[in-house]
Amino acid sequence: MKQRATFNSKLGLIMASVGSAVGLGNIWRFPCEAGEHGGGAFLIVYVFCVMILGMVVMLAEFFLGRASQQDSVGAFKILAPRSMWKILGYNGVIAAFLIFGFYSVVSGWTLEYMYQSITGNLNANSVEEFTENFGSFTSDMFRPILWVLVFTLITHFVVLSGVKKGIERASKIMMPMLFVILIILCIRSLMLPNSLAGLKFFFNPDFSKITSGVVLSALGQAFFSVSVGMGCMITYASYFHKSINMPNTAVSVVTIDTLVAILAGVIIFPAVTSFGISPSQGPTLVFVTLPNIFQQMPFGSLWSFIFFVLLAIAALTSIISLHEVATAYLHEQHRMSRFKAATIVSSGGFVLGVICSLSFGVLSHVKILGLTVFDLLDFVTANLMLPIGGMFICIFVGWRVNKKVLKAELTNNGTLKFRLFSVFVFLVKYVAPIIIALVCIKQLGLF
Ligand code: PFF
Repeated sequence: MKQRATFNSKLGLIMASVGSAVGLGNIWRFPCEAGEHGGGAFLIVYVFCVMILGMVVMLAEFFLGRASQQDSVGAFKILAPRSMWKILGYNGVIAAFLIFGFYSVVSGWTLEYMYQSITGNLNANSVEEFTENFGSFTSDMFRPILWVLVFTLITHFVVLSGVKKGIERASKIMMPMLFVILIILCIRSLMLPNSLAGLKFFFNPDFSKITSGVVLSALGQAFFSVSVGMGCMITYASYFHKSINMPNTAVSVVTIDTLVAILAGVIIFPAVTSFGISPSQGPTLVFVTLPNIFQQMPFGSLWSFIFFVLLAIAALTSIISLHEVATAYLHEQHRMSRFKAATIVSSGGFVLGVICSLSFGVLSHVKILGLTVFDLLDFVTANLMLPIGGMFICIFVGWRVNKKVLKAELTNNGTLKFRLFSVFVFLVKYVAPIIIALVCIKQLGLF
């Protein structure tokens, strides 16, 4: 049998998984969700969801991927032959494709802001003007679509250059740089006038704000942020070497991801209160607050250019993993060449990206269930497909998989200790599925 590709080194593999996890979800989506759902209240629920449930689903996915050495559909075919469980794999492939559609639009925005920074055009006289500039850019017919195309092409070529050369190398260099610049921005943001009010909003929980809707959003955001519930980590783990300590890797990835999200909050919310912006303004939040911060810094254009380059790269290492889920599936299950599989995914993703982009302009009146196409895809994937996918992944690993096989895989055939194995089994079998089910049922109004 042909030897499967693996990540080269332990660091490279952690970086690639972190690269998938850390992205627009942390820096764009997290502050936007936290702002819309009460700041501190959201943060508390989020940290619980990501550190407990996100981590459990991630480890379950790591198990599925490395034990089966398959893509997200193949994993279920190998571990539960001739059963319906493979539907979970299909849910993942479809979710990956749908997320790809709206993710490429926001990734395209980062390229525009990079371009505007370098040409010195990212300036405005007031918050209103920044908001207006952003609105007129995103509602344009051509410009955002051009950036979607550029971004999709870059993704396409990185995916084609393969696991080691493309994904691993890009993640290893860029992720630490992103971390450093985030810390610099935090310091800068905290020095703004009235920054304390923002910190209070972000860290001071008002428990009366916690509703089932807030919990579902936090759960969805947690899964989106650490890339679980849809087979992305199954696909990546299928490239893990057999000697990798998977429990430790899951802890590292989830912790780093959470830190980055919190750093993003510490940058955005002090700026929000300082500039008098509404924290609940949605997807525009980051693209209005950050240029404002940069404008007030010495060498602002340079900082903003570096920042948007890194954000674009963080987006790239995440979108690559979405692309890889669908490409690996077509390549392995339909026996297509990698080239053909990747071309189909890129072309389909581009078409979806165009529709999502236009939903800020000419298609803004097209609403399904009261949401634009962009918002609908975001809601359906993050708030439904990922939590439900995550729940069934837990049920599968907790109830269907033989515990001896599970333990052998997670301890590398007994060569490493996993002291919390029984805690993990308890969480994956009872706690995670029950909590996720209750949140979904409550939110759907079934009780
Ligand atoms: N985790 C990525 C982010 O936070 O930006 C988004 C993402 C990537 C979600 C891959 C799901 C996925 F499979």
